[in-house]
Amino acid sequence: MDAPEGIVIAPSVLAADYARLGEHVREAEEAGARWFQLDVMDGRFVPNLAAGLPVARALRACTEAFVDAHLMVHEPGRFLAPFADAGADLITIHQEASLHLHRDLVEIRKLGCRCGVAINPATPAEAIGEVLHLVDLVLVMTVNPGFGGQRFIASVLPKLGRIREMAAAAGLDGIRFQIDGGVDTETVPLAVAAGAEVLIAGSSVFRGAGSVAENFSALQAAAAVPV
Ligand code: DX5
Repeated sequence: MDAPEGIVIAPSVLAADYARLGEHVREAEEAGARWFQLDVMDGRFVPNLAAGLPVARALRACTEAFVDAHLMVHEPGRFLAPFADAGADLITIHQEASLHLHRDLVEIRKLGCRCGVAINPATPAEAIGEVLHLVDLVLVMTVNPGFGGQRFIASVLPKLGRIREMAAAAGLDGIRFQIDGGVDTETVPLAVAAGAEVLIAGSSVFRGAGSVAENFSALQAAAAVPV
């Protein structure tokens, strides 16, 4: 499946109520959500455990929307085929977690999925320069991975611009630029102005002040507001 175009607010189901995941996903879809992210954590690459293959299959079964699996796991090459089989449309792996990043990214495409590479706040843009030609998406983390509800690290945003420049200089015009962590109505305009196109939002969608639909719509409205 092709990834939705334009500026996309993509709910992360990490913050959803797992006792009624399907309901929460449908509420977000009714408000316009076309892209969901599943955060996968192994307790080794990040100090937390979250979502595995059963949740991936449950998410696939309850939505036709675009599903991206963000593998925050050590040696992600071990889990590419299982998450492709579980229905992920896109699989993102961390540059810091893969001993053979080029091979793992090539493998994701071979499995029939779109391919993403993620970097943590401390990782320089240059760390992914040799693989930009292999990916459909770059995820620039705006928090240190492992937990929802963290504070947005705004100092990361210039790195997004540097990666966009690297891609443009290499003639790579099909890459989507995603950020993840601390996305809310305050930080959305900053991220969009810095070149983010896909904004992952968990707490602000599923644990915000309003309903899921109201929270999602507020983020979409914030994305339309020029800084
Ligand atoms: C961190 C996770 C979170 C999550 C979004 O590893 O990747 O960033 O998706 O969390 P919120 O929107 O609650 O900051």
